[in-house]
Amino acid sequence: MAALQSVDQFLSENSQQSVEQLQEFLRIASVSADSAYAAEMEQAAQFVCDEMQRAGLDAEIVPTDGYPIVYGEKTADPAAPTVLIYGHYDVQPPDPVEDWVTPPFEPEVRNGCLYARGATDNKGQLFTHLKSIEAWTRSTGGLPVNVKFIVEGEEECGSNNLDRFLQDHRERLAADIAVISDTSQYGPGMPAITYGLRGVVACEVTLRGPKQDLHSGVFGGAIANPVNALAAMVGRLVDEQGKVTIPGFYDDVQPITDEERAQLANLPFDEASFLESLGVGETFGEAGYSTLERRWARPTCDVNGLFGGYQGEGPKTIVPASATAKITCRLVPDQDPERITAAIHTYLKSLCPPGLKLEFTDQHGCRAMVVDMGGTYAAAARKAIEAGFGVAPVQIREGGSIPVVASLREILEIDTLLLGWGRNTDNLHSPNEHFHLEDFHHGTRASAHLWHYLAEK
Ligand code: BES
Ligand code: ZN
Repeated sequence: MAALQSVDQFLSENSQQSVEQLQEFLRIASVSADSAYAAEMEQAAQFVCDEMQRAGLDAEIVPTDGYPIVYGEKTADPAAPTVLIYGHYDVQPPDPVEDWVTPPFEPEVRNGCLYARGATDNKGQLFTHLKSIEAWTRSTGGLPVNVKFIVEGEEECGSNNLDRFLQDHRERLAADIAVISDTSQYGPGMPAITYGLRGVVACEVTLRGPKQDLHSGVFGGAIANPVNALAAMVGRLVDEQGKVTIPGFYDDVQPITDEERAQLANLPFDEASFLESLGVGETFGEAGYSTLERRWARPTCDVNGLFGGYQGEGPKTIVPASATAKITCRLVPDQDPERITAAIHTYLKSLCPPGLKLEFTDQHGCRAMVVDMGGTYAAAARKAIEAGFGVAPVQIREGGSIPVVASLREILEIDTLLLGWGRNTDNLHSPNEHFHLEDFHHGTRASAHLWHYLAEK
């Protein structure tokens, strides 16, 4: 216990410095989706590598076919459990930039929150583990567990080069349990352990019509208009009852058990304030399911972007040459990403009017995950969260996806503890993303205690 006290003291004494270092990290515009930021991606990887070394890990930058993976490790005691920690240094695009109160890559503290793209997803949350490890190694000279730390740069684009890394380094990456902080608390003052995530598939569909934009008076009515057609096609992905209409979509869906429905119904959920926080007047979703069930345990289909034709000011009378939609489906156990992708192709092909050419670009996919919360590792996490946040965690599922979780299970046979310190109101993927400094410090303390409790077993 003496060791834990000196770790806590180190964290308190260095809390301001940790925030400043995090701000430095947030100044790097590491947007993985846009190749214009390639130099910043390399810079962010280097920053993480330096931070791992500062924390006392042996760290290196491992190239991939995409952006590099940063890997660090430290063996404390071969008899102690080995923990694999994962995080990502890439962030979502900052758009729409004009909606930010302060620029996305100029971090600023306001009202107890640190504002910047990546503040919570995932640089801030990832930083809690770097800082807790640093506190252990610098204040006690060691660590209670062996640590293997993977930080990748392609999570926000589907982690397409990560499985290869896991396969190539299977032995080196062997671990007893994985820890990821890339989810959210259930609400303010309600930290959570997340036992389920949805999977996802993403694809882009382009419809091509005439070889170039044409006068809509001269030619309109005689050939199919790609924008009209694509809008009608994506309009048929979900019906008025919120059911996805892609044939075969629900074939492998595991129904929610009555027991789980009862558990979810027991979580406090205020629909009115939920709607208000989103600026929406009414919920809409699959008939027969509650809002939490729809968000966490039922599959969906969403158009993320739809474009084609003239986008500038004033009218322009054309039949556009093409139209494009970006589509994602969120998946639940046991839906298979490849089967769902194939089902989307088949369905859209069947809806495509004559004379138009349909092109697909499949972007990424990962399976949903539900993990068992009964084990001793989850018990250690509960104690650590209570130490860090002052209250015991609730158990929740989440609707977002973290591709590595399924890969860790399939490739390395490791289960993951999803310990989120953020809040879903932190504007992740939105303008004015932020991280409550309180959550940052509580999360760091919980992380430091987690290494202690995991070693206790
Ligand atoms: N951190 C999120 C996932 C998340 C957020 C889970 C909040 C639970 C609660 C992660 O960085 C993310 O956004 N992932 C992508 C993955 C996709 C691109 C494969 C997602 O879910 O859209
Ligand atoms: Zn994330």
